[in-house]
Amino acid sequence: MFAITKPSENAINSAAKALIGGALVGIPTETVYGLAADAENSEAVARIYSVKGRPQDHPVIVHIGSIDYLNKWAINIPDYALKLARKYWPGPMTLILERSEIAKNFITGGQETVGLRVPAHVTTLVLLAEFHKLGGNGIAAPSANRFGAVSPTNAKAVQSELGEFLDQLRDLIIDGGQSLVGVESTIIDCTDNIPKLLRPGFISLDMIKESTELKAIYNEKPIIRVSGSLEQHYSPKAEIVLNGTVHAGDGFIALSNVRTPIGSFRLISPISIEDFAHSLYQGLREADKKGIKRVVVIPPDGDGLALAIRDRLTRASN
Ligand code: TXA
Ligand code: MG
Repeated sequence: MFAITKPSENAINSAAKALIGGALVGIPTETVYGLAADAENSEAVARIYSVKGRPQDHPVIVHIGSIDYLNKWAINIPDYALKLARKYWPGPMTLILERSEIAKNFITGGQETVGLRVPAHVTTLVLLAEFHKLGGNGIAAPSANRFGAVSPTNAKAVQSELGEFLDQLRDLIIDGGQSLVGVESTIIDCTDNIPKLLRPGFISLDMIKESTELKAIYNEKPIIRVSGSLEQHYSPKAEIVLNGTVHAGDGFIALSNVRTPIGSFRLISPISIEDFAHSLYQGLREADKKGIKRVVVIPPDGDGLALAIRDRLTRASN
């Protein structure tokens, strides 16, 4: 089984060197774990794609240690994007900006834009600082799961998703505990006059408005779906059914004030929306571990993280 590394100072220094040397490192972040490589090393980034089984035209987010590296990767940065970066970085927010010349096609999927984020996890911030000291400009890190599967929120989940595809002699997985937020970062397209929300997350529409004084655009996908209209993603092996009738043997996920239907397995009982996001992916993994075939979920109402949870669940249910 692929070894998991404890986050000592030595281990973090070795991980920074390994990244510079072209290795892959499973990194903790406050949202979900990422699979990292030097964002300027095309061969290392190509290995991310093969380990994940991901299509080549999918862009990856570049993680930087501080706002000081923004100008390395992006040009023509609008004022409102700077306001967002100053207010919410380090934090669970990715900004899509016009790319600089160091953001190559193998990072952007051939687009003229690049996704950037400063993650708020102490281990990964130290790793990024070390990596920058060694001359690196940023690390590419998609979520550390096989393409289309549930994102990992702890090191063990990375090990079970990707361990068999990593190279025991070069690559690492760093243990940074359970990810605090539990769902992926908010992605905001900052290439137009006003921000556009591409993927909801912890940083909400209200928070975007508060810091930019602009109203961000977002069209929530309806929860009653037309079959095949949405990309399938974030999916466990079990079938996910939203607001459906519960049958005997099904898994069940809802806020703790909703009673468990007779004959079903309660996977998680989150006491708040934050707790729902924090524990959701572990709950879905648990279903697969238990061999549960169908999971009924009652998604939470509301904005902010509730919107992010509904987005992931809607895609997982496709
Ligand atoms: O929370 C997160 O964002 C995690 C942690 C590891 O930082 N990362 C993550 O990466 O979720 P990934 O690759 O699983 O999802 C990134 C999403 C993809 O859907 C990708 O299409 C989009 O970001 N993305 C990246 N660069 C983009 C760009 N230039 N334009 C539009 N979308 C972009
Ligand atoms: Mg992902």
